[in-house]
Amino acid sequence: MHLSASRRIADLVQPDRVHHSVYSDPGLFELELDRIFGRAWLLLGHESQIRGAGDYFTTRMGREPVITCRDEAGSVRVLSNRCPHRGAMVCHEASGTAKRFVCPYHGWAFSTDGALRSLPVPEGYTPDVRGQTQFGLTPVARVDLYRGFIFASLAPQGPTLREFLGPIASSFDDLVDRAPGGELEVAGGVFKHAYNGNWKLVLENHLDGVHPAIVHQSSVQAAKDLPVPEADEYSTIALKQMRQNAAPKEVWEALGVWAGDWGHGYMGDYHDDSRLVSGLDNPIFADYHNLLQGEHGEARARQILGVGRFNSIVYPNVSFMGQFRQLRIVHPLAVDRTVVYTYSFRMPKAPPQMFRDTIAFSNVVNGTGSWVLTDDLEVYERAQRGLTARQPEWVYVGRGFGGDTPQPDGTRRGATGTSEIFIRNQFAAWLRYMTAGA
Ligand code: FES
Ligand code: FE
Repeated sequence: MHLSASRRIADLVQPDRVHHSVYSDPGLFELELDRIFGRAWLLLGHESQIRGAGDYFTTRMGREPVITCRDEAGSVRVLSNRCPHRGAMVCHEASGTAKRFVCPYHGWAFSTDGALRSLPVPEGYTPDVRGQTQFGLTPVARVDLYRGFIFASLAPQGPTLREFLGPIASSFDDLVDRAPGGELEVAGGVFKHAYNGNWKLVLENHLDGVHPAIVHQSSVQAAKDLPVPEADEYSTIALKQMRQNAAPKEVWEALGVWAGDWGHGYMGDYHDDSRLVSGLDNPIFADYHNLLQGEHGEARARQILGVGRFNSIVYPNVSFMGQFRQLRIVHPLAVDRTVVYTYSFRMPKAPPQMFRDTIAFSNVVNGTGSWVLTDDLEVYERAQRGLTARQPEWVYVGRGFGGDTPQPDGTRRGATGTSEIFIRNQFAAWLRYMTAGA
């Protein structure tokens, strides 16, 4: 770490600016994996991915590969995906169902609760490994769920998941409450997009209301030149979303942006698509509304659909939104390399066309062939190239500085919808993690 030798970590974050090395110093990146990704609650997935005993998916927590699975007793387990013998990754599949995880090297076999169950040549190990818990797959220190979302933390101590989420839990409520019966399931596969840039860049983009009209100009223009179909077609959502990126600045300024403890934040919604609020002229949406109304009553159904949130960020690894049921998990690979996994959710009890709209939206904002996402990825890479330069030293994140207003729920609201409050807030959390115990 060439920089922090000469400059203390605490000096890298100032109230309205950060030192460029937080994006480009490989030594700081390794510390982030230990102190941020090694301490925070990280969202791993959703329980619909592991409904039955033996169902599993593999993922990573910072640099640690893990298996998330449902054991034979029905509990959710998060196990280190590393053989306790000589360290091979035990499970190489992205997801599946297994009775045993069998290491490909010498055949040690583990049950879904991590215990070592059998091995081909058991005699000869000294001491005898059979029946010893230390020779099972190591469980991750803490696992908890919130409304079906699976979180884990590598740290044995720290805030509980509920304390960690604080007011941002309401964004998960928004996502789940919109589903009839509260039922959601991951569906339609996963888009993965990698970029040559730091992991923080994507989290600093998803609540940024200044960039869309500029970065996404080409797709705005293309969409403006096409008529939005009268009927509710697959392309309707794409065209509306692309056009909406050019909403006038007054629209963005009037939006709220909120910041909470531990770096979390969310922004208000900027769609003028009436289907998102009432849309009862649309028969599919009317059916969906009726389902919610039948379940909760008219007032509550309107309240559920009236929550106007675009993206929410749970720092440091997730960005999601309720209306079109999108969730992105951010995986840092290197100081200048990141991969984002994006998931779509189906509401099994809603009209099937609601999922078509989810997929249409996902193709626009998360799809690897998207006209929108590619612009963001290009700008992250240009930012990374700039941030790797030594001069100027500082990155300015002062938009709206000094105008934050405390809210009754414990969040703070930015002066306007385009305040960079959420970035300053992410760096306040960054500093807290990076200097804790120092
Ligand atoms: Fe897994 Fe040897 S490394 S059984
Ligand atoms: Fe964008």
